[in-house]
Amino acid sequence: MTKNMIIFGDARNMKELHDNSVHLVVTSPPYFNAPFDYPDLFKSYDEFLSLMRNVARELKRVLDEGRIAAFVVDDTLIKGKKYPVVADITKTFIEEGFKYRERIVWVKPEGYIRISRRSGVLLQHPYPMYYYPDNLQESILIFQNGEFDYKKIPEKLKEESKIDIQEYQKEKWYLNVWQITNVLPINNRLEKGVAAFPEEIPYRLIKLFSYKGETVLDPFLGSGTTLKVALELGRKAVGYEIDIELLDVVKKKLKIDQPALIGNIPEFEIIIREDIKHLRTQLQEKVAKNNKGK
Ligand SMILES: C[S@@+](CC[C@H](N)C(=O)[O-])C[C@H]1O[C@@H](n2cnc3c(N)ncnc32)[C@H](O)[C@@H]1O
Repeated sequence: MTKNMIIFGDARNMKELHDNSVHLVVTSPPYFNAPFDYPDLFKSYDEFLSLMRNVARELKRVLDEGRIAAFVVDDTLIKGKKYPVVADITKTFIEEGFKYRERIVWVKPEGYIRISRRSGVLLQHPYPMYYYPDNLQESILIFQNGEFDYKKIPEKLKEESKIDIQEYQKEKWYLNVWQITNVLPINNRLEKGVAAFPEEIPYRLIKLFSYKGETVLDPFLGSGTTLKVALELGRKAVGYEIDIELLDVVKKKLKIDQPALIGNIPEFEIIIREDIKHLRTQLQEKVAKNNKGK
């Protein structure tokens, strides 16, 4: 039985996890060199794709038969060039032996975006060929590790993990378009510089694709959103994060920095490996520099 664990180290190597020991993966990888979050993190697009391939291989090993890996990703626009991240990750996972099960489109509220310089070009030049729309969506890619044996789950566990049909219908989970508000870029928030996703995303995925007591893994932990929700939903939680500077953020989010509360919170083993990096300060300095240059 897997215990709750946070491993600071590179997710290309998940040696702490046994084969087939994970029941669901919910994650969002670093946005390829995105100017507002991860400028110049990778030397090239190939280096980014190679990370995705290596992680896909490890996930294939640690995920149990028939189980799901959900990746929240988006194509990235850098200096006017679009990188087809969604298509390339899909292709990589298929090549590594996963079944491509579904793509859900996460739509953010329209108020989130003001007309940018990019889409505003058409207002300056209201003619054909000047069209560059603003982006309001990301993709939630759902990959499956072979066939799931529905008969293997005991009736009692099924009942305990039953999906609330009212919520399913009211919130329109049955559509492959999910309207969910993003984490708003408020200053001094815990997740600043992490590109965190809203809790509603892991909430839906964990309810839809795992049973109570099972293990949920996030190989790109960031602030720890997936693990927080997994625990709240009675699942076990395991995460990998390469940036040791996020240790305090993760501890805060999971409330493992409050000894007074220890009785109420599940125990975590925190492992700090030698292949950690120091990223957050350096990346934030670059983002600030990029913003100044505008
Ligand atoms: C988009 S963020 C995840 C945000 C997370 N979903 C949340 O809600 O806070 C991606 C994270 O992956 C981490 N990362 C990048 N390369 C990694 C690697 N090779 N192994 C593990 N983590 C890595 C980054 O430091 C970053 O914190």
